[in-house]
Amino acid sequence: MPLSVGIIGCGRMGQQYVDVYNTLPGTELVAIAEHNPERRRVVGERFGINALFADAREMLAHVTPDVVAVVLPGKYIHDAVLAAVEAGVRGVSTDKPIGAVLADVDEMVDACAEAGIVFGGGNLQRAMTSVQQAANRLQAGEFGEIIGASVHRYGGEISGGGCQHIAVLRRLTGAEVTEVIAWGEPAEALQQESDEGLQINGQFRLSNGLVCPVFPRDTPHRGVDVWTQDALVRWDWGDPQIFTGLDDNGQRIEIDPNYAPAEYPQFTYLGTSIQSFISVVERGVEHENELFISGRDLRQSLEVAIAAKHSALRGSVPLSLPLEDRSLSLHPVDYRWLGGDQSGRPQTLDEAAGNA
Ligand SMILES: NC(=O)c1ccc[n+]([C@@H]2O[C@H](COP(=O)([O-])OP(=O)(O)OC[C@H]3O[C@@H](n4cnc5c(N)ncnc54)[C@H](O)[C@@H]3O)[C@@H](O)[C@H]2O)c1
Repeated sequence: MPLSVGIIGCGRMGQQYVDVYNTLPGTELVAIAEHNPERRRVVGERFGINALFADAREMLAHVTPDVVAVVLPGKYIHDAVLAAVEAGVRGVSTDKPIGAVLADVDEMVDACAEAGIVFGGGNLQRAMTSVQQAANRLQAGEFGEIIGASVHRYGGEISGGGCQHIAVLRRLTGAEVTEVIAWGEPAEALQQESDEGLQINGQFRLSNGLVCPVFPRDTPHRGVDVWTQDALVRWDWGDPQIFTGLDDNGQRIEIDPNYAPAEYPQFTYLGTSIQSFISVVERGVEHENELFISGRDLRQSLEVAIAAKHSALRGSVPLSLPLEDRSLSLHPVDYRWLGGDQSGRPQTLDEAAGNA
């Protein structure tokens, strides 16, 4: 029996989810919840789905799919995830950023954990098979002991795009961020509710004892470096580069990392993210720590971003994680929080129909 799938939110990103679920063997799209009536009609026709609903609660009152993919603007994720938990799905996934207020995200993580429901992440680079393979090799000790890590370009949107950095850093190092000290600029960006334009300088203390410098802009790199005595693994968006040893000029030597390719390369990391999610739902929630990207990972990314902002706001005080004050928040930019229709970047019907 294939796993039945419901998509909640079928805008730009939700339509990509549908393409993946329609391609993977072992899953069957059965329902779509989409708020915008014209887009709902068009995506229903495009994907051949008659079970069309206005929102999560309406959908779940009629049908309980095995898995539900919540692909909504941030403001609406919390309610949809809790509705899926109440309906008794086997797995629910969301995308980034998972929310704005820590307590809301805790509620989602706890509700899934208490009900034994797999809580998946979404379309993040951490889910690339190459990132997973590089991390496995680092942690197996292939390059020796990890002795350093750094984060580059943690700025602009630390909750939106910066989410990617924290998720990859934790996976490559196999460590948690346990303390954040940060400096933030410009001053106006620190005062506002959203992460728009905020640039963070700082350092993260990791659970393996390392202190990881954080740079706000291109160094010229834009991702995460992790190094051992004579090797460097560099995630700079895309497949991580691997360097081992030095040439006669003392320059690092890049090697062919020989990554095994993804099964559905056309879907890049959304495909591998969903494959890993489906595999864990099939095998059971006790395998949840094998998810390439989970709801918990998204919470950690948000929590680090919030800690960075608040450390900077309070004069670069060290803040320990988990943060004590769960009422703290950081909103993403309007497009991520409210979606295209409300932020002025609506998807046209032609695009939604797959014609543009
Ligand atoms: N991981 C990534 O690379 C990435 C990239 C883009 C977007 N995203 C995330 O994906 C999510 C969706 O982004 P998008 O680009 O598809 O946005 P979008 O605005 O194109 O689509 C969102 C859709 O959800 C619908 N919607 C809004 N509220 C709803 C509700 N309560 N119930 C049902 N439908 C509702 C809207 O009508 C719209 O069609 C956001 O969380 C965004 O941050 C992630």
